[in-house]
Amino acid sequence: MKAKTIVLGVGGGIACFKAVMLASQLTQRGFQVFPFLTQAAQSFVQALSFEGVTQNRAVTDHLVVDDKGISATLLAGEVDAMVIVPATADLIGKIAAGFGGDSVTLAALVAPKHRFFCPAMNDRMWKNAIVQRNVRILEEANWKRIGPEDGPLAEGYSAPGRMAEPETILESIVQELDF
Ligand SMILES: Cc1cc2nc3c(=O)[nH]c(=O)nc-3n(C[C@H](O)[C@H](O)[C@H](O)COP(=O)(O)O)c2cc1C
Repeated sequence: MKAKTIVLGVGGGIACFKAVMLASQLTQRGFQVFPFLTQAAQSFVQALSFEGVTQNRAVTDHLVVDDKGISATLLAGEVDAMVIVPATADLIGKIAAGFGGDSVTLAALVAPKHRFFCPAMNDRMWKNAIVQRNVRILEEANWKRIGPEDGPLAEGYSAPGRMAEPETILESIVQELDF
């Protein structure tokens, strides 16, 4: 069977390390994973980690083309699915507003039918009315939300906002894609 292809859009949050684990698990499950990192994501985790586990070049800059003049970011729409992990409040807001100023938001503008986002933020951010409005906008635009869960946050207490575990995200994607 032909490998399913997926763009893994990585935002800049403390849960970035889980995105590396998800990239690895998706690859082991037979997906071709194409990592896309925002600038902020690259402050938390190196593109090299994603390249190592996926064996694909990470896209870290949306304003480049390859030697044939092709933009990897605009090709992101040709894949079977896109997942944003972690989906930060900032990324959710930008996508809800239709911005495309970095590799992840631009890929989101051309995202395929199967599209997922995995919010991760502290409980104050998660409860913020504007964030909640932006989450609803994404859901209405057929972005399937996975998580967040109620659990230990980086702040040192337990509350809603913890990103879903990579295994949970993987199973949701596999189920939806019937893979
Ligand atoms: C240590 C640290 C951890 C952060 N964790 C989160 C987080 O879990 N969720 C979130 O929405 N923002 C978090 N932020 C804020 C984002 O990094 C910031 O809004 C960033 O601009 C988001 O960029 P992005 O659009 O590339 O995701 C954190 C900031 C710092 C300094």
